[in-house]
Amino acid sequence: MAVRLMRERGDEILQNSAKTVTRFDRTLQRLVLDMFETMYHHHGIGLAAPQVGIAKRIIVVEVDEQKLALVNPEIVWASGEGSDIEGCLSWPGNLGEVKRRTSIRVKAQNIHGEVIEVAAEGLLARCLQHEIDHLNGVLFCDIATRMLEKDPSVPPGNE
Ligand code: NI
Repeated sequence: MAVRLMRERGDEILQNSAKTVTRFDRTLQRLVLDMFETMYHHHGIGLAAPQVGIAKRIIVVEVDEQKLALVNPEIVWASGEGSDIEGCLSWPGNLGEVKRRTSIRVKAQNIHGEVIEVAAEGLLARCLQHEIDHLNGVLFCDIATRMLEKDPSVPPGNE
């Protein structure tokens, strides 16, 4: 496993739609392991493949000990709406308020290509929507209802 280079806001790969995954091979498995390691390294709760420079529809999340790697994820049902504060590993130190659906169902494939469906609410639902947005070239700041003042506790070198 390896920590991969984090792409930051302004990088073109974060502005484009990622491609559907069709090969469920060792390369995919290695990428998913690296994505988890990169996410943990940066203390994140979710990561999308374009953030590590791979334009493919793959996300990983870990919220409340629920750890998921979803390939070609699609929101098939959504309910409720709520606002909360979000940040992004691709734009460290910046926070914004984003309106999201509060309960969702996501259809996806696992790393073996098997179709799965995941029900999520609260923070997990928010995190999944944030990561799926990355696959469509959307960053939280593009859809935030307001951005917060920059967090002064983040040293300039960390941005
Ligand atoms: Ni993000």
